[in-house]
Amino acid sequence: MRYAPIVDRLANEGARAWEVHGRAMQLRREGRDVVILSIGDPDFETPEAITKAMVEKVQGGDTNYGWIDGGPDLKAAIAGYHTRQTGQEVGPANISMTLGAQGGLYGAVMCVAGDGDEVIVPQPVYVTYESVVQASGAAMVHAPLRAERDFHIDAADVEAAVTPRSRAVMINTPHNPTGAAYRREDLMALGEVCKAHDLWLISDEVYSRTLFDGRQHVSPAALLGLAERTIVVDSLSKSHAMTGWRVGWTVGPEEFTRHMYYLGLALHYGPPTFIQSSVAVAFSDDFPEVEAMRAQYEIRRNLVCDALEGNKRVRVIKPEGSCFMMMDVRDSGLSSHEFAHRLLEEAGVSLLPGEGFGPSGSGFVRFSLTAPDADLAEAAQRITRFVNTLNT
Ligand SMILES: Cc1ncc(COP(=O)(O)O)c(C=O)c1O
Repeated sequence: MRYAPIVDRLANEGARAWEVHGRAMQLRREGRDVVILSIGDPDFETPEAITKAMVEKVQGGDTNYGWIDGGPDLKAAIAGYHTRQTGQEVGPANISMTLGAQGGLYGAVMCVAGDGDEVIVPQPVYVTYESVVQASGAAMVHAPLRAERDFHIDAADVEAAVTPRSRAVMINTPHNPTGAAYRREDLMALGEVCKAHDLWLISDEVYSRTLFDGRQHVSPAALLGLAERTIVVDSLSKSHAMTGWRVGWTVGPEEFTRHMYYLGLALHYGPPTFIQSSVAVAFSDDFPEVEAMRAQYEIRRNLVCDALEGNKRVRVIKPEGSCFMMMDVRDSGLSSHEFAHRLLEEAGVSLLPGEGFGPSGSGFVRFSLTAPDADLAEAAQRITRFVNTLNT
């Protein structure tokens, strides 16, 4: 039987990035002592009040069809939350609830790009972006994030990737996998490029609540003159340890939001009703658990950076936000692929090779901070012992 061309565009090389993780899970099943830092699923619990509200809704029978992209009350709650986080004034007509940020990314690209178009994506890049862009029929075009800039975006690199086919730039700040939180001036310069070439700016801000050293989140949507072309994608997955709930949303122009409604209608006919009706509480209350999680990620970041400081063969790039950090392994004498595979087999630590995130990730491996402090401390010790065995 024949399948449609989209099936080939959905499966791609990005999936290879997970090889090491798959092997680590297998070793663990075989009884090996493996520290797994290759996946970004928070090891914290969803705040209890949110879980309780959801259970009450299910038990109360709130299990029929619900709104396609969030009801008016939920949208108003999300709009208020977004305004508090970014400073951008928006209302319910700008909000579409999606199945996680992933659903928001998919919807955003599907609504602004199509066959023959190009979407510019700074890389290293979060692994699902390629499938998302290609699903729309557009091609993903890379703009490098440079290690010598600590992976901060450079608008000139984005502009160099612009062609007459470019339709959008898709960024992520704070950034997975590098931990860079883009600076206001860099985002302003990027905004000028988008304006000059009439491009959409899709801004994935799922780590906006996970910033370190007192940094404040900067969303391009809040910068002068950018709201009309910016689509923010966000979720509760990381900030509230709710990855399994699939609560995400987009914030964009009203017309875009209307298109998202029809996409949701065709794709899923609405997120689970009892989640829609219970989750508003997450947006109206500022849960102390959210700040506690952020603070813990910062403690973990410091723990790993301190433990590996001064090492001659590996160097951690201190992240400014997100749940991830990159380690430069170019002085180890190994490629990042070899480093990750040997570290797993010989020392029992699972990190992802940076090239799985794109060519600019080559020479780096990615740590996830979503593991207990003790695991991170153990991993740092094992890495130190492992690199001491290398003959370089
Ligand atoms: C950069 C980035 N965007 C989007 C997502 C997807 O998030 P969600 O669970 O809200 O779909 C992730 C998940 O790891 C991510 O790292």
